[in-house]
Amino acid sequence: MTSPRSAEPQRLTRADLDALPNYVPGRSPADLARELGLPEAIKLASNEVPYGPLPGVVEAVTEAVTGAHRYPDMGVVALRDALAQRYGVAPDRIATGCGSVALCEHLVRATCLPGDEVLYSWRSFEAYPIIAATSGATSVRVPNDAGHGHDLDAMAAAVTDRTRLVLVCNPNNPTGTSLRRAQLDRFLDAVGEDVLVVLDEAYREFVTDADVPDGIETYADRPNVVVLRTLSKAWGLAGLRIGFLVGQPAVAAAVRKVVTPFSTSLVAQAAALAALGQEDEVRRRCALVVAERERVTEAVRKLVPDVPNSQANFVWLPLHDRAAAFGAACEARGVIVRPFPGDGVRVTIGTPAENDAFLAAAESAL
Ligand SMILES: Cc1ncc(COP(=O)(O)O)c(C=O)c1O
Repeated sequence: MTSPRSAEPQRLTRADLDALPNYVPGRSPADLARELGLPEAIKLASNEVPYGPLPGVVEAVTEAVTGAHRYPDMGVVALRDALAQRYGVAPDRIATGCGSVALCEHLVRATCLPGDEVLYSWRSFEAYPIIAATSGATSVRVPNDAGHGHDLDAMAAAVTDRTRLVLVCNPNNPTGTSLRRAQLDRFLDAVGEDVLVVLDEAYREFVTDADVPDGIETYADRPNVVVLRTLSKAWGLAGLRIGFLVGQPAVAAAVRKVVTPFSTSLVAQAAALAALGQEDEVRRRCALVVAERERVTEAVRKLVPDVPNSQANFVWLPLHDRAAAFGAACEARGVIVRPFPGDGVRVTIGTPAENDAFLAAAESAL
């Protein structure tokens, strides 16, 4: 039986979603260029690497797409084997997903019941609060320390008997700060083994500080640690959506159970396999990004002195209440950056010419 139609449409979706922020994708440079009447605009807002797909990726995708009428391998066997070999772990310890952001979501789904707590530092990756809330978990945020990084002692103290998952973003998006070995050792020793600690290492390939540990090499054998990696950044596959995790077999199996079936697409699997064969080129590109990161940091500190050291492919300008205006001023000059109003601005490292355009825009904006 249908109920009589009322004048007001019925609410069909969850009311609590209204309070959630939307995930903000970087603005389209084509749109901005059109608006400003420029031949092109520069996008330094989404932490992509600017050098195009790795050699062999386009060919692998083109070949794979001839099988587009078939479902992909749901077990992602060939790619998990290749990742296992590259990272020195057994294939049953790996799960792949539609970007590592999807794996974050699957990890919350695999660990939390409604009301369980997900703990993270704030500000950090903007997807964390959205994922926690949409999964029915409760977010517990520990404020970043004065240097814009995680306060691991305060995070350890914030673990309760409801905490199921802790997200540690190293290097941290959007501030670029990183955690060193001794800090992480102490933190992991302090957190009980009944709490899963996720080391989100989306920017690992840009780390140059030898004291910032590789989570897979250093911690993945701990029973309650999972390391998240992505092929979106250094490996140049942001548009094809592929990330992976390394954890204990039972955790990886639980994630594979809750993953949306077939969400690691045919082309993503083929592209990732081709990309993994290009590690020398990845290293070469990362070295270019790192050199530019150091140059941009030094230059931008003349305008904003308290820019923290970054170990990622972006820099953080703690402009506080000037952040939104600075973002708008850069856009007006054809450079898209990522302001977090009231807090700061994240600027992705691009090509030398793109970075010069940003520095010129920053100078006139400030
Ligand atoms: C810290 C962090 N984790 C995870 C991701 C997700 O990346 P992807 O879903 O493209 O793999 C990002 C992307 O910006 C990130 O910054």
